[in-house]
Amino acid sequence: MMRIGVLTGGGDCPGLNAAIRSIVRLAAHGGDEILGIHHGWRGMVDREIAPLNESTTAQILQSGGTILHSDRYHPDLHAGATEIVLETILRESIDALIVIGGDGTLSAASRLAELGVPLNGIPKTIDNDIAGSEESIGFATAVATAAEAIDRVHTTGESHDRLMVVEVMGRSTGWLAASAGLAAGADFICLPEHPTDISALAAAVIRRHDRGATSSVIVVAEGATLIDRATPSLSAHGGVLSPGARVTAELGGRTGYESRLTVLGHIQRGGPPNAHDRILASRLGALAYRATVERRFGLLAASRGESSHLVPLSLVQESPRPVAQELLQLVESLTETLE
Ligand code: F6P
Repeated sequence: MMRIGVLTGGGDCPGLNAAIRSIVRLAAHGGDEILGIHHGWRGMVDREIAPLNESTTAQILQSGGTILHSDRYHPDLHAGATEIVLETILRESIDALIVIGGDGTLSAASRLAELGVPLNGIPKTIDNDIAGSEESIGFATAVATAAEAIDRVHTTGESHDRLMVVEVMGRSTGWLAASAGLAAGADFICLPEHPTDISALAAAVIRRHDRGATSSVIVVAEGATLIDRATPSLSAHGGVLSPGARVTAELGGRTGYESRLTVLGHIQRGGPPNAHDRILASRLGALAYRATVERRFGLLAASRGESSHLVPLSLVQESPRPVAQELLQLVESLTETLE
C-alpha cells in the first residue's frame, strides 16, 4: 500500500478533475491511499492536505476547475520552502507525489525529483506548450470554447460591417490562437511566432474589403509580436496596450472601418472539459499512477498521438514547446496574405 499525494498547480483548465478521478479510482482498486494537496505547491508548505476517495471524487469527471484548488506558488522562489516540502513528505508519510501542472509547477517538480523526491508529472495547460508531451490536458476544450466564441463574434461583425478583433490566451506561444482561429475561419491570425506589421495588416484588411468583404475577423494571440513603425502603442493613460487592443485601435484608425475588441480571457479556461480532454486526462492520470506504484519516478505521463508514454520529467525545462510547423503553414495558407 502506498500513500500518494496529488496536487494541481498553475492556471486551472478543464480536465484536471478527470485526471484526479482517474488516479483516485485506480488507487482504490489497487488498495493505495490518495491524499489531495490543496493549492498546488503552497499546500505542501502550508500542509493543506486531505484524503481523497471514490465518494469525494464522484461526479467530478465532467466538471471544470480543480477540486484541489490551484496556485502559482513555486517553492524555488521562497526561501526555505523546499525544505518544508521535504519535511511535509516525511511528516505525512507520503511515499510519492503526482504533480499535475504547467511548465512552472512541473519545473519545480523536476527540480525536486533531482533532489530525490519520488514524484511523477502530468502536463496540463490551455497553452499546450509543455515540452515532452504532444498535447496537454485542457487544450482541446479551450480550442473548442475559443472557436465557438469566434464563430459568434463573426455573425455580429457581419451584421454591423465591423472589424472584429478577438484576443486569445496562450502566453508566449500561438498554439491556442492558431488552432481556434483556424477552426473558426478567422480572416487574419496574429501570432507570437510570426511578427505582424500593423501597416501591412491594415493594408491587407483594406484590400479584402475592396474585394467586397464587409467585415473581417482578426484573431490576436495575447503574446503576438506586432511591428508598428508609425505610432507608439500606449493607452490614453500612458499604459501599454495589449496586442488585441493595439490591433483594434490601429486598424480602426488606419482603415476607417469600425473596430471592436473581444478579449476571451478566462472563459477559455473555465467550464466542463470536452470528451477528448476527459479521455486524455483519464489516460495520463492512469499512466502516472501506474508508474508511481511501480516506483518509477522522475517521469512525465506524456501524450503522443492516441497513446500515452513516460518521458523524463526533466524535458519540461525545455518548455515552451514550439508550435508545429504544419499548423503555422496552415495559418499562412488559409488566412489573408500580408505583403
Ligand atoms: O497558462 C495559462 C494561462 O491561461 C495563459 O494563457 C495566460 O497568459 C495566463 O494563464 C493567465 O494567468 P492568470 O489566470 O494567473 O491571470
